[in-house]
Amino acid sequence: MEEVLTNPKAGFYINRDVFGAQGDFITSPEVSQMFGEMVGVWAMCLWEQMGQPKDVNLVELGPGRGTLMADLLHGASKFKNFTESLHVHMVECSPALQQLQRKTLKCIDKADTSENAENAESSVISTLAGNPVSWHASLEQVPSGLPTIIIAHEFYDALPVHQFQKASRGWCEKMVDVQEDSSFRFVLSPQPTPSNLYLLKRFKWAAPEEIANLEQVEVCPKGMDLTQKISKIISAYGGGALIIDYGLNGVVSESLQAIRKHKFVDILDDPGSADLSAYVDFPAIKYSAEEVSEDVSVYGPMMQSQFLSALGINFRVEALLQNCTDEQAESLRTGYWRLVGDGEAPFWEGPDDQVPIGMGTRYLAMAIVNKKQGVPVPFQ
Ligand SMILES: C[S@@+](CC[C@H](N)C(=O)[O-])C[C@H]1O[C@@H](n2cnc3c(N)ncnc32)[C@H](O)[C@@H]1O
Repeated sequence: MEEVLTNPKAGFYINRDVFGAQGDFITSPEVSQMFGEMVGVWAMCLWEQMGQPKDVNLVELGPGRGTLMADLLHGASKFKNFTESLHVHMVECSPALQQLQRKTLKCIDKADTSENAENAESSVISTLAGNPVSWHASLEQVPSGLPTIIIAHEFYDALPVHQFQKASRGWCEKMVDVQEDSSFRFVLSPQPTPSNLYLLKRFKWAAPEEIANLEQVEVCPKGMDLTQKISKIISAYGGGALIIDYGLNGVVSESLQAIRKHKFVDILDDPGSADLSAYVDFPAIKYSAEEVSEDVSVYGPMMQSQFLSALGINFRVEALLQNCTDEQAESLRTGYWRLVGDGEAPFWEGPDDQVPIGMGTRYLAMAIVNKKQGVPVPFQ
């Protein structure tokens, strides 16, 4: 899964823009500017709870086209104390998407004439709210030392999962085999694999009755490891993380899916030409975060519709509707309902292989915060 998505030569994300109507799938920030703006409200409230620090690392994991960050910065640009504190860090593995993000954030190169030019943190500035911006291939590469706010929207679902199936010899990992005609097929491992350790860990966090009826289980070791890194940063420097994704508030059985041109396709067909993603196991995030530090608390998951409504998306759409053309009003209303609407109705009318478009109930929000910050909005 990791190879298919991020291989430096042929990975799905590496060389192209896969988002939007012309691409393979659409995400909430691409549906409406209101999504990034509401995430901005969340970040600003957390910053207030952090005591309004003068310097903050604002990290986005997997920023896609950079639309969420652009809407966040643009929407918050009137709140100067907040935006002036932000050092923006984009964690992105795709050089093509890094370039696109640079454009979306309207970045310019700032000539650094200071004596310490080579030590300067970043000489790229986003003109949206005047913030320094830098890019990193992974979270480990983001410079530490500052209070940190981390946003992960549809990032965890792209991290590789391991699938297990119950067999007479115990839980066996599903592996990919190459057949004589060079096509792929799934086979079961003859004996336990190293990933079985993560399966055992996941079972420790589940109730026996939850496991009893399962024939298949998915675990995401990279998601657990990433959460522990996030948790350590937040406990050492203060701040919090917001994770929004589609997923479950329980063990995930079998969810790995491939999407090409807005349709579900066979996972093993033409790897690298379709997006692979899996449901996010939110309890695994909660327990991983709490396991590594006593200084963080985890809140949620709550449905995206609840999260956005509690942050005031209804007021925002009303305000935007006051001053727009008929065409813009139509797009605002459609966008609003896609963000808060049900995954099944009223938008789910297409054929079986079409990806449903209502995002309000399928997407969940979870926050990990330093205990010193108290309970983050809107999880009170
Ligand atoms: C599903 S897209 C979500 C994009 C964006 N957050 C949005 O909601 O529109 C996943 C993003 O994560 C990036 N990505 C995936 N795996 C990654 C990895 N292992 N390291 C860094 N970035 C990764 C992709 O290139 C892409 O930008």
